[in-house]
Amino acid sequence: MRALLTTKTARRTLRPIADLIDQRIQRQIRRSLGDGSAGGLGHELTALRNRQRPLELLLDGTGRGVSRLPAQVHLTRAVDELALVTGDKAGAERNIAQAFRLLIALEALGVGRIAGGTMNICGKLSAVPLLDPPNDEILEIGTLYGMFGAALIRMMERSGRDPRLTIVDPLAGLQLQPGTTEGADPTGTPVRGAAVRTNLALAGAAGAATRVHQGFSEDPEVRAQLSDRSYGVIIVDGDHSAPGVGADLEWAEQIVAPGGVVVLDDFGHPKWPGIKEAFEKHMATNTRLTFLGQVANSGYLRAS
Ligand SMILES: C[S@@+](CC[C@H](N)C(=O)[O-])C[C@H]1O[C@@H](n2cnc3c(N)ncnc32)[C@H](O)[C@@H]1O
Repeated sequence: MRALLTTKTARRTLRPIADLIDQRIQRQIRRSLGDGSAGGLGHELTALRNRQRPLELLLDGTGRGVSRLPAQVHLTRAVDELALVTGDKAGAERNIAQAFRLLIALEALGVGRIAGGTMNICGKLSAVPLLDPPNDEILEIGTLYGMFGAALIRMMERSGRDPRLTIVDPLAGLQLQPGTTEGADPTGTPVRGAAVRTNLALAGAAGAATRVHQGFSEDPEVRAQLSDRSYGVIIVDGDHSAPGVGADLEWAEQIVAPGGVVVLDDFGHPKWPGIKEAFEKHMATNTRLTFLGQVANSGYLRAS
């Protein structure tokens, strides 16, 4: 029978019937996809997309430059790297999730944004408390809108610490970077003291008590004023050029407490090769700093 149906004559005879069946199937598919018929699959898809858009707006890059929608592969990698640097897998999973929610909340409520990729930010916010710094004095070199500092205060308090934050930044209306022309910020918000204060206010009493110093970290007067204590944590995130990072590492060497943590932001980031260059140069000196590892685009060092 099968052989009979596959003969040339049979195929030719049956072709009009096969064509008719094909046409009917195509018509049915078009109808299901909503092509000309209300209530079809296409119509439902459009409705679903429309309903999803406001949810995406909570997380996508519109108005902040980068998307806050990490893929599972990036989340897994960040947790694994953090577990390696801190030796605490359960803490890494918990902190990354909590830091992610905090980042979304602060950017929704605050002024401006936190700089950088989602996993890099969550990595820093998670790693600092997990690395159990020897005291609660934190210095952030380069703050932009002060929002990262506010978030770090929250994460430290969540682990039972009493953070005291000091910030130094020129607060020059926009992000200053030697050798590059940073355009207007994607948030449309100028970088100024009022914005920093508003964001720090979101972090309660410790946020309001933050010392905000307008100036450049390499300025001897700034250094004299801010070198009044030993810092348990120093975030190096100001001038990203090799000489700038080198100067900040030299200063950090002098003011970091024994056992203190130095975070080198944008470490290994292709846009900022000067950071790794300065790090390598610094590590070849007689330094108190030991490299602990990297999470996303941040390097972590511990002082002896
Ligand atoms: C990448 S942003 C900081 C981002 C912030 N830490 C965050 O996580 O959102 C770098 C900031 O450092 C500032 N800056 C540039 N040169 C500096 C310097 N020499 N001392 C202190 N801050 C500097 C820039 O103007 C900018 O506000």
